[in-house]
Amino acid sequence: MELERLLRAQGFGSRAECRALVRAGRVCVGGTLCDDPLAQFEAEGLGFSVDGGEWTYRKLVYLALNKPPGHECSRHPVHHPSVYSLLPEPLVRRGVQTVGRLDQDTTGLLLLTDDGSFIHRCTSPRRSVPKTYRVTTRHAVDDRQVAVLLNGVQLHDNPQPVAAAACLRVEQRCLQLTVTQGRYHLVKRMIAAAGNRVEALHRLSIGGLGLPESLSRGEWMYVDSPEEALISSGAGTLGCSTGVPDVLEGQS
Ligand code: URA
Repeated sequence: MELERLLRAQGFGSRAECRALVRAGRVCVGGTLCDDPLAQFEAEGLGFSVDGGEWTYRKLVYLALNKPPGHECSRHPVHHPSVYSLLPEPLVRRGVQTVGRLDQDTTGLLLLTDDGSFIHRCTSPRRSVPKTYRVTTRHAVDDRQVAVLLNGVQLHDNPQPVAAAACLRVEQRCLQLTVTQGRYHLVKRMIAAAGNRVEALHRLSIGGLGLPESLSRGEWMYVDSPEEALISSGAGTLGCSTGVPDVLEGQS
């Protein structure tokens, strides 16, 4: 692939902008400066740098973000900064999108990708990918509330009762709750319908994908083989690639 096309595909701007970057001597490939925008390279897995920042070419990109509170899952946020402000500009420019959404005050695992069919597969109601949350409640959780959540609660926008796939009381005011749907405020509404209230919500896993403890709030990492991790049973550690841009060194 021509270098200027390769850079464009990775989010470094229009073809003309990428050509200018190369001509200005700001791009190295495999450690060697390349100022020919039309130079040909085998793209997949190619290591290159722009202004010293290291990148690896990826046709499609999958990211896991440890979402901090006070961020909206929107490109046009209204009241809080956007989760996209936590990513390097080229990843945003190449069009990554969140896989579903978390409320601004919810923390934890948020996947982002520019693979539209992956987003569809993950969020399709037919696929029922389990999502597990740590729920801190205002009041102590009693046995009746756990039973109500497991048996199903009636929500106004769903004709059928919505049941938790799993519900474990881990502390007096803390539940580990697994749901397989992706409705607006689902967990908060389920907890309210069971007679309690959510004080804090943290997503621990999506399918078999769990956040590694080393990933602090606000940090992100590449996910290798997301499909495999998603369907594997139990929340495992995310596969992390080595081609992390400079700005992320030390995050994984
Ligand atoms: N359920 C909620 O109520 N909020 C979230 O952010 C995610 C699931």
